[in-house]
Amino acid sequence: MTAVLLGLGYLAVAAVGAGCWAFALAESRRRRQVVGWLVAAALTALAVRGLLAWLLAQQDFAFAQEKVVIGLPLSTAASVFAAVMWWMPRRAPSSRRDALTAGAFAAAATAAVVEIVLTAAVGAPAGVAAGVTAVVAVIGAGAVTALVRGGTTRRPAIAAGAASGLLVVGAVVVGFIGSTGAGALQAGGFGPLDAHAHGGAESGASTARSITDLTTAPTAVARVGETIPIELTAQQERIELPSGASIDAWTFGGLAGPAIVARVGDTLAVSVTNVDVEAGATVHWHGYPVANAFDGVAGVTQDAVRPGEEFGAEVLMTRPGTYWYHTHQKGSEGVVRGLYGTLVVQPEGGQVEDVDLTLAVHTFSGRVVLGTSDELESRVVAPGDSVRLRLVNTDQTPQTFAVNGAPFRVVALDGTDVATDPLEDRSLVIAAGGRVDVVLDMPDSAVRVGVASDRDGGLALVPKDGGESERLRIPELAFDPLGDLVANAVEPPGSSAIDAALAADGFDVERTVVLDRLPRFVDGMPNYAYAVDGRVYPYIDPTIVDEGDTVRLRLVNRSFETHPMHPHGHAVRVLSVDGREPTQPLWLDTFDVGPGEVWEVALYADNPGIWMDHCHNLEHAALGMVTHLAYRGYTSPFEHGGDAGNDPE
Ligand code: C2O
Ligand code: CU
Repeated sequence: MTAVLLGLGYLAVAAVGAGCWAFALAESRRRRQVVGWLVAAALTALAVRGLLAWLLAQQDFAFAQEKVVIGLPLSTAASVFAAVMWWMPRRAPSSRRDALTAGAFAAAATAAVVEIVLTAAVGAPAGVAAGVTAVVAVIGAGAVTALVRGGTTRRPAIAAGAASGLLVVGAVVVGFIGSTGAGALQAGGFGPLDAHAHGGAESGASTARSITDLTTAPTAVARVGETIPIELTAQQERIELPSGASIDAWTFGGLAGPAIVARVGDTLAVSVTNVDVEAGATVHWHGYPVANAFDGVAGVTQDAVRPGEEFGAEVLMTRPGTYWYHTHQKGSEGVVRGLYGTLVVQPEGGQVEDVDLTLAVHTFSGRVVLGTSDELESRVVAPGDSVRLRLVNTDQTPQTFAVNGAPFRVVALDGTDVATDPLEDRSLVIAAGGRVDVVLDMPDSAVRVGVASDRDGGLALVPKDGGESERLRIPELAFDPLGDLVANAVEPPGSSAIDAALAADGFDVERTVVLDRLPRFVDGMPNYAYAVDGRVYPYIDPTIVDEGDTVRLRLVNRSFETHPMHPHGHAVRVLSVDGREPTQPLWLDTFDVGPGEVWEVALYADNPGIWMDHCHNLEHAALGMVTHLAYRGYTSPFEHGGDAGNDPE
C-alpha cells in the first residue's frame, strides 16, 4: 500500500511541477518576481519527485523504473536548462533569449506531464519506444513554443505544422503501445507470444512436442484406487434457492455442480459435455497438479466444448486436499454464473475426521450462496466429534470467513497440509480461488460458520435439534499464514530443490512480474486494462522453464487493487511478502497480491506443459492479466479465438 500511495504522491507532485512551469511560461513576459517563485517551486517539486522515486525504488525497482530511467532524467534536463535560461544574467533585452526561455519552460512543463503519462499509461518496464516518444514530445514542445514566441509572421505557421506533425506521430506510437504494451519494442524481449505456437519462441519447431501428449502428470502415486466416472454437463438452469429466490444460472448439473469426493490413488474418468451454454465450457481443476492436456484452458490446452460436444479427461488423484473445478472458457462470465463445483481428495485411507463438510462461497448477483444454500442451515453434530470444514472462495474478490463458538486449527491451505495452534477469535481471509481447511472439536454448544458478506446465512452446527445460533460475528484479527503456522512434517515435492536453490541463492529462472492498471487495447478495443509488465494478454512474455528448474518470481503490484494470482499446475512456496518471511514453509496456489505489495515466491518446475498464470479476479483476467509458465519444447495446437471461439477468460 505504501508504494501505491508514494506513486500517487509522485503523480501529484509532477502535476504541481507542470503547473508551475506552465504558469511561469504565461507570466514570463510580465511579472519577473512571480516567475522567479514559480521556477523555484518547480525545481522543488522536481527534487521531491526524485525523493519519492528513490523511496519507491527501495521497495522494488519496478515501482520506479519508468521514472528513474526516462521521466526524471528528462525532467531534470529540461528544468535545469529552463532555470539557467531564466536566472542567467542578461546584458540587453533580446527577443531570441526570451523565445529560448519560453521554449525551455514549455519543455520542462511537458516533461512533467510526460512523467504522469509514463506512470499512469505506459507503466513499467518502459522501453525504448516510450523513451524516444518522451524525448521527442519534450523537445518538440520546447521548439514549437520557442518558434511561436519568436514573433515573426511565418513562424506560427511553421510551429502549427510541426505541432500537428508531432501529434500524428504521438498518436501512432501511443496506439501501438496501447495495443501491444509498453515493453513491446524493448530489446531482448521474446516478442508477442504467438497464439499458434505457445512457448515456441526458443524451441525448434521440429523437436517440439504437442501438449496434447501430456496426459499423465509426473507422480509417484500408483493407480491403486477406483475409477470414478464423473459426468459434468454444462447447462442453463433456473435454480430455486432455499430462500425462495430463483436465479438463472449456468451449472455443471445443479447448484455448485456435482461435489466430487475421491481418494488418493483413484482416477476420475471425466466426461465434459455441453447442453446449451452457447458461450462454450471447459473444466479446469483449480489447484490440482493434473497433466497439462487436462488443464482445461480453452485456447491453450483444448478447444472450448460447444453445445453437443464432449471432452474426456482421466485425472489421477495424486495428492489429498480441497480443490475446486470451474470452466476456463469465458470464465469471467461462466464461473460467475455458476459453472463450478468442489473437488475433495481424501488421503488413501479415506476420511479422517468424524464430520467432513465442504463450504464453497459463491455470490450470484449479490446473493451469497454457501455450499448450496442462501439461508442459514443447521446440522446436528454430536459433541466431541471432530469436524473438518473445507472453506472455498469461488468469487472474484477475497472473502472473509469466520468460525464462531469453538477454537479451531487451520490444517490445510490450498490443499497443502499445515499446522497451527488452536485459534480463537480469528477471521479467515481467503483469496479468490483459495481454500482453507480448519478442524475443530464439536463443543456442547452451537458453532456458527459463514462469511462476512452474509452474516445471517451460513451454517450452524448444533449439538441437538433446534439448537440456537446467533448472528455470525467477524473477529477483527485475521489468521496470518505468514506468522501463525507451526512446524509440520509435510514437504511438498520440490521442497528440497527450492531449499537448495535458496541456500545457493541460485534459481535457474528469475522473473519480476509487474501488475498494473493501464489504458490498453484489449481484443481490439480501448480499455482501462489490467496489465502484466505493461502488456496485456496475449502479448505478455511467458516465463520459460525447463523441467527440473527452480523458479523465483517477484510479483510487484503497482495498482490500487488486489490481484489473486494463480499459477496453474504448480503450487508456489512463499518466500516473502514485502520482505516479511513466513515462519514455516508456506505453499499456496492462489495468493492475494495487495496494492503496493511485493511477493517473492518459488516454484519447482516438475509438471511439463503450457500453464496459465493469471489473476483469479476473472474480470481482471478478461482485461489482460494473464501470463503463462511455458516449458521449453512444447507447443499447443489450440489457438485463442479460432473456429472454437476459444476465450480462456
Ligand atoms: Cu481457477 Cu485459471 O483458474
Ligand atoms: Cu487482478
